[in-house]
Amino acid sequence: MKTVKTGLIGMGARGFSLTKDLLTELDTVKITAVCDVYQDRAEQAAKLVAEKRGYTPAAVTDYRDVLANDEVEAVVIMASWESHIDIAVAAMEAKKTVALEVGGAYSVDDCIKLVDAYEKTGTPFMFMENCCFGRREMMCLNMERSGVFGEVVHCSGRYGHDLREEIANGKENRHYRLRNYKNRNCENYPTHELGPIAKLLRINAGNRMVSLTSTASKSAGLKEYINRNKSDDTELMNTDFKQGDIVTTVITCAGGETIVLTLDTTLPRYYSRGLTVRGTKAMYDGFTDSVFTDCETDRAKDHEWKSEYGNSEKYAEKYEHPLWQSYLQSGVQGSHDGMDYLEFNIFFDAVINNKPMPIDVYDAAAWMAITPLSEQSIACGSTPVAIPDFTRGKWMLKKSFKFDNISL
Ligand SMILES: NC(=O)c1ccc[n+]([C@@H]2O[C@H](COP(=O)([O-])OP(=O)(O)OC[C@H]3O[C@@H](n4cnc5c(N)ncnc54)[C@H](O)[C@@H]3O)[C@@H](O)[C@H]2O)c1
Repeated sequence: MKTVKTGLIGMGARGFSLTKDLLTELDTVKITAVCDVYQDRAEQAAKLVAEKRGYTPAAVTDYRDVLANDEVEAVVIMASWESHIDIAVAAMEAKKTVALEVGGAYSVDDCIKLVDAYEKTGTPFMFMENCCFGRREMMCLNMERSGVFGEVVHCSGRYGHDLREEIANGKENRHYRLRNYKNRNCENYPTHELGPIAKLLRINAGNRMVSLTSTASKSAGLKEYINRNKSDDTELMNTDFKQGDIVTTVITCAGGETIVLTLDTTLPRYYSRGLTVRGTKAMYDGFTDSVFTDCETDRAKDHEWKSEYGNSEKYAEKYEHPLWQSYLQSGVQGSHDGMDYLEFNIFFDAVINNKPMPIDVYDAAAWMAITPLSEQSIACGSTPVAIPDFTRGKWMLKKSFKFDNISL
């Protein structure tokens, strides 16, 4: 079996757990190098590879050593947000196929740099937004392509994840979120919800995002949490966090659709991506996991809809995405409800068989740019901000993506 000699860069929480998954789930990967600025993390990852596979990869602290390594064909970048673009650009220039983990950018210029590097080098690149491979997200995509929603008018989603503990323990965990929440106020993690919505709305493939406004609430959740849980940490107790607790971003699209994104990470809540799709013929509501269609029986239950919560399973019988149909039969595996396995399997298959990547550099640039643009909008009192066209006009020519003839 052909394997891809792979370097892993950024061996923190995501890097380490993904390494475990790749080692157990994917025979198509050979991890030949691991890298983290913290030597202990690089060494711990190398040890894990040795235990599971019986060989020791190079363990380095400078990513340039991974890029200079002839035993590396592809890199998976799982480093802190601030270094994503620099590493991805350098990797493309070094002709190493890139898988870039998610996160927002810091400037629109950086997003342009990413696109320029890809266009100059032609190095394959995939943005690793695993939520595009979520079961319900893919079912909604399939329902949209099958016409169930009619004309889609509006979508919304959120990153609803209580991260107070992770952020407040940023010093102990050596985690980047702490410094970001101290210093920035923006939609800092837009892609888990935006990615699937962008695919559904054919962003960069006949449609594009044109403008946004962002509004941030005050910041109170972290302060309260720290008062209660970390009162012995004087530095933290004296910190004023810039990041608002709830950030609402409204995006307009060339096709006339609107998208609402909510960042919701520092108040008590349950985890949710809350995908909602609103069309002229039906809606999908991720909070209740239900589909409401414009038929008499559904309309009659208008006020008694609670009895239909979870009815999506019924729709899945007909509209399960083809990729998930076979995945459910073969056995769902791995982290994040099986999304990660699907995503990485597709990435390594594309590398081995020279296939196009389902989430390309233009998607990455457009989705990552939401962060600095929202920062600008918030700083200027929620003023509208134009979203650049990173495809340089090609969005009008590009068709929606098909992978092995399946819509992705
Ligand atoms: N797709 C998902 O479901 C998912 C889940 C968690 C995290 N993530 C993403 O994974 C990435 C890492 O997140 P995390 O929670 O593991 O963070 P983390 O802080 O635990 O790990 C990041 C690691 O990158 C290292 N690093 C930073 N700059 C580096 C550089 N220049 N070279 C080498 N290593 C460097 C840090 O030392 C750290 O160990 C982020 O982009 C995050 O958004 C994705």
